[in-house]
Amino acid sequence: MTAFQEPVRAAAQTSVQASAQASAEASAEASAEARAQASAEARARAAVEQASGAGAPHLAEPGRPAPLDGAPPFGTPSETPSVLGGPGAAVGEGDAPSFSVRALTGFPEVRPGDDIAALIAAARPGLADGDILIVTSKIVSKAEGRVLAAADREAAIDAETVRVVARRGTLRIVENRLGLVMAAAGVDASNTPSGTVLLLPTDPDASARAIRAGLRAALGVDVGVVVTDTSGRPWRSGLTDIAIGADGVAVLDDLRGGTDAYGNPLTATIVATADELAAAGDLVKGKAAGLPVAVVRGLGRLVGDRPGDDGDEGTERGTGARALVRSAGGDLFRLGTSEAVREAVAQRRTVREFTDRPVDPGAVRRAVAAAVTAPAPHHTTPWRFVLLESESSRTELLDAMRDAWIADLRRDGKSEESIAKRVRRGEVLRRAPYLVVPCLVADGSHHYGDARRDTAEREMFVVAMGAGVQNLLVALAGEGLGSAWVSSTMFCRDVVRSVLALPEHWDPMGAVAVGHAAAPPKERPGREPEAFIEVR
Ligand SMILES: Cc1cc2nc3c(=O)[nH]c(=O)nc-3n(C[C@H](O)[C@H](O)[C@H](O)COP(=O)(O)O)c2cc1C
Repeated sequence: MTAFQEPVRAAAQTSVQASAQASAEASAEASAEARAQASAEARARAAVEQASGAGAPHLAEPGRPAPLDGAPPFGTPSETPSVLGGPGAAVGEGDAPSFSVRALTGFPEVRPGDDIAALIAAARPGLADGDILIVTSKIVSKAEGRVLAAADREAAIDAETVRVVARRGTLRIVENRLGLVMAAAGVDASNTPSGTVLLLPTDPDASARAIRAGLRAALGVDVGVVVTDTSGRPWRSGLTDIAIGADGVAVLDDLRGGTDAYGNPLTATIVATADELAAAGDLVKGKAAGLPVAVVRGLGRLVGDRPGDDGDEGTERGTGARALVRSAGGDLFRLGTSEAVREAVAQRRTVREFTDRPVDPGAVRRAVAAAVTAPAPHHTTPWRFVLLESESSRTELLDAMRDAWIADLRRDGKSEESIAKRVRRGEVLRRAPYLVVPCLVADGSHHYGDARRDTAEREMFVVAMGAGVQNLLVALAGEGLGSAWVSSTMFCRDVVRSVLALPEHWDPMGAVAVGHAAAPPKERPGREPEAFIEVR
């Protein structure tokens, strides 16, 4: 028997009351200490009450009659604004913000083709305008026939996956086609008959709209609907329910532009209201109690169709839960840790065209910090980086290098026309808003006195230099900066040392053009590791 086939259970009801009341002594002139004291008292009074509604199919509010199905029983649900406790907050006990949440009982096992709104209506839910229904996506998936044989699970995860975020062994955290980042793309084997798995609904926002419209038609009530799924979260142990579909509910409450109770401006606070509702519903639905639907009452201010339709411009209704998916551009944590490391390495590609956007010198310094962690022989640190941050320093160097190159080409007997063509092609450094000249300083290298070992020793330092420059380029890519490591300074070292006033034992090892890429690098076919490997 699956969880949803369990017999009707007594209604589980949680009443959450948060009361915040400042001390009467906390007048506007009160000292900071007195205000802090008042705030502490207010917090101490904040209480969470759990009222057991066992056996009661409807919201049991003391002194109020049980509602009739389909008829708003209590008139307008309580509409108390949310208040952050703090100095000056003066909310009487009777006005303390509160809401209640109860599980809906009498819900049958859902089968493909079922109408969820009709099943909810048949369960005599006692709904009122402004209530919010929290609906487990499992029953929506079942009704929409999103059930597969378990043998197809891996293929189903593949089909639902848009992007792998992290993979550890058999665990796959992926972004699915709904934009949700979830283990196994949200394909789940719980609360479905053994041998089957459930996919998430095709369009949970549309599912929420259908349930809301169905309830309006069946019961004449205007409710909000949140479709939920269970999800883990980075940085936090344990699972919680989140909103994956919504209709008629403010899914985000944008408090930016307001102030807290201390008068501090709120500049970043956007509350994920629909996720909070989902989690509140889960407290009474549970994972295994066969209670797939909960009803939240007392937060009617969040219910409606249009942004700001109650004059509260901060709330956004009618956007659907899709609005809760953080855009890729605004996501600082798009990949798991080892995936990010791999991607940074692969992201480094030679960039030869840059925008005019200046390069952050701090980013280059962070990249140098990564560069000097490269391996090097004899515990030496052979890397030096000359940063050409002024246009005049870049121009002076590039002009001198161009003249040296032209002299080389003339010595080679090239025509003036061919020289001009080559010089034009070699302008990649001129197009960059920032240049780095990596230099090798082989202090600490050994001297053997024979060519074989002295050459090997020199090569050892040169490859260590390469490792340092590669670190620099990868770190620049991690900073969102493109780069091109070109060889030119290696062919006119004396000129470079002279123009940049470098010590004689500093060996320029090319130059790195740095900047913001004007265009993404050209795709190139993947390189199969096996083509580069010999196993012995
Ligand atoms: C030591 C070294 C010297 C290079 N010199 C030049 C150069 O003079 N001009 C140039 O356009 N690219 C130069 N490159 C860049 C390579 O052409 C580039 O790395 C190669 O095309 C592979 O492309 P990718 O960096 O996007 O993977 C050099 C690369 C290295 C490692």
